[in-house]
Amino acid sequence: MADILCIGAGYVGGPTMAVIALHCPQHKVTVVDINEKRINAWNSDHLPIYEPGLQEVVERTRGKNLFFTSDHIGDHIDQADIIFVSVNTPTKTFGRGAGRAADLQHWEKVARQILEHSNSPKIIIEKSTLPVRTAQAMEQILNSNPSNIHFDVLSNPEFLAEGSAIQDLQNPDRVLIGGHGTPEAQQAVETIVNLYANWVPREKIITTNLWSSELSKLVANAFLAQRISSINAISALCEKTEADVEEVAYAVGTDTRIGPRFLKASVGFGGSCFKKDILNLVYICEKQGLHEVAEYWEGVLKINEYQQARFVAKMVSAMFNTLAGKRITLFGAAFKANTSDTRESPALVVCRELLAEHADVVLSDPFALENAKADLGADASKVTFEADPYKAAEGAHAIAVLTEWEDFVTLDYERIFASMVHPAFIFDGRIILDHQAVFDIGFNVYPIGKAPKQHFHWPPTNGFQAP
Ligand code: UDX
Ligand code: UDX
Repeated sequence: MADILCIGAGYVGGPTMAVIALHCPQHKVTVVDINEKRINAWNSDHLPIYEPGLQEVVERTRGKNLFFTSDHIGDHIDQADIIFVSVNTPTKTFGRGAGRAADLQHWEKVARQILEHSNSPKIIIEKSTLPVRTAQAMEQILNSNPSNIHFDVLSNPEFLAEGSAIQDLQNPDRVLIGGHGTPEAQQAVETIVNLYANWVPREKIITTNLWSSELSKLVANAFLAQRISSINAISALCEKTEADVEEVAYAVGTDTRIGPRFLKASVGFGGSCFKKDILNLVYICEKQGLHEVAEYWEGVLKINEYQQARFVAKMVSAMFNTLAGKRITLFGAAFKANTSDTRESPALVVCRELLAEHADVVLSDPFALENAKADLGADASKVTFEADPYKAAEGAHAIAVLTEWEDFVTLDYERIFASMVHPAFIFDGRIILDHQAVFDIGFNVYPIGKAPKQHFHWPPTNGFQAP
């Protein structure tokens, strides 16, 4: 039996440890966090995050071999054989590299905390996404202890996506474990390989050197985001040429060399990882003097910002060049469906831009309104939050679909149309609605990457121009 500890009970640490506990009943898994409120939520019926299937896994393991606590963190560190570190590594907001580099202060604090409370050798695992070669700094801090306790630092990045985290953890494409080539480090790698082998087929467990593992996480996210920016860039061209972005994505994606996934055009990607990790990659490249490489990846972020700005510009121009005083209902606040997470959500970017146009914004989402309120900060007071989409749309001039929740597909749009101000507009930022059907009801419809369907001629010249 091993004593496994995870520091950081967030979106990554909580679900990952719950699945490890489920598949490794022989091991004791403890999750600690400095945030007592979050730990209390993990111990309640209302988990701090919404994730399909998570509640069930937690109920099956909590109190048996899975424990959440914010007490006596030092004692738990001391008792642990294996420590996963899953604390947040946001983009730095101050000093050198502000706005681009990763803020490693939590990571370093945790390393020092581990050092302070350890009396026996341990395997320390980087679960948080970190810049390449962070493990080196960690090793230096950890191995600076006067009592010569041995620590092996491994990298085991998480590839789970929110909304499908449990499925991704139960049946991952691969598990990546990076470690040094020394016999001790290789033994530590083998320990973690054996841990995952409790439920993951061996051939899906990849082992690499430490730096490859750290960098692979950043690169995987950069590649995924790049595909979205690629198709989003093409969506702009589709709108000008009457090509249909879904048809183009399908035609392109059926080439097995390209593949069909992550080619869904949208109002832009959000989430806590893509932007942060690409900024980090760009910063690392720049620091290494690789300016062309940095510029290449920065382009992925530029297109993402362009796509969101373009969406709002289209709303303004389609609605007769003014949104001031108009009630605009946003369907979706979460950065993607099946999560309550609103971090870097394009919905909130659009919301803020509409407020800047003096629109009267109503935000509707089945699970994410609480997080949206917190993330909007001072702007929240200018927004109406309404979970019921029918009430949210009442009296609105326009609806913008910003999260691909299935709930929004199956609404009664005839009822919604009847309750709105006419002419009524729908801007589909996720391409999920039946555009012909809503057009036939009477809506003017503007999907990303497709020709609009309008009941009148506007603007007077062909195509949309931002005011
Ligand atoms: C985080 C990182 O953001 C991401 O880069 C990494 O890949 C995985 O870990 P996430 O789980 O989504 O992702 O972060 P978050 O939900 O913010 O959780 C981090 C938790 O760590 C918070 O609950 C915070 O209270 C906790 N924490 C932070 C500690 O317990 N100790 C600290 O010193 C700092
Ligand atoms: C991502 C990675 O997928 C995951 O492997 C990593 O561990 C963390 O970062 P996540 O951010 O949770 O996961 O969600 P993801 O499904 O990747 O979606 C990110 C954003 O891209 C969302 O806003 C989503 O709506 C958008 N997206 C995704 C598109 O706009 N089009 C697509 O085709 C796919």
